[in-house]
Amino acid sequence: MPRLIGFKKKKIAVFISGTGSNFKNLIKYSLKKNSKFEICLVVSSRSKAKGLNYAEKYNIKKKVISYLNIKKAEKNIINELKKNKIDLICLAGYMKILSKNFIKNFKGKIVNIHPSLLPKYKGLNTYQRALDNNEKFSGCTIHYVNSKLDSGKIILQKKVKILKNDTSDKLAKRILKQEHLLYPKALNKVLINS
Ligand code: GRF
Repeated sequence: MPRLIGFKKKKIAVFISGTGSNFKNLIKYSLKKNSKFEICLVVSSRSKAKGLNYAEKYNIKKKVISYLNIKKAEKNIINELKKNKIDLICLAGYMKILSKNFIKNFKGKIVNIHPSLLPKYKGLNTYQRALDNNEKFSGCTIHYVNSKLDSGKIILQKKVKILKNDTSDKLAKRILKQEHLLYPKALNKVLINS
């Protein structure tokens, strides 16, 4: 019997600021027959984010948020989330810090993808820092968002081996490949329990 009978697809908003390869990948996954979610909205902090092109291509509502005033920005975002009855927010390369208040309002409803094996290498420049420390592995993590940067409960992680003569760029590429596999998996895990 099909597993999804009676299951209402969860509505997801993806937040981006740049390339949006994770956004694109989540859209593609969401179009598969047994997907538990649909992407209903993309929020971008940059009007020129390349990822916004995927919103056009796949006919997904987009909202570009001006961050001149963070309170107004977040009020705008909340309006859009409500209007579109969003169940879960997926951060994917979103370069703005969400306020404590915003996060409190959406407790347990925001997840993020981070290119390191958290709790190691929170913040930026994760690849180079892992290389500089002669780590044997790096990787990616999907975690819930709480008020401390890259510190919420971990949902899933994937290790990526660091190779001899690795560079930050090469490592980033290999990790990104794994990110694309991990994010949909993590969403399935989160949504099956919700
Ligand atoms: C990814 O490496 C993700 O881990 C980090 O930002 C990057 C976003 O890449 N949070 P893309 O815009 O999805 O291609």
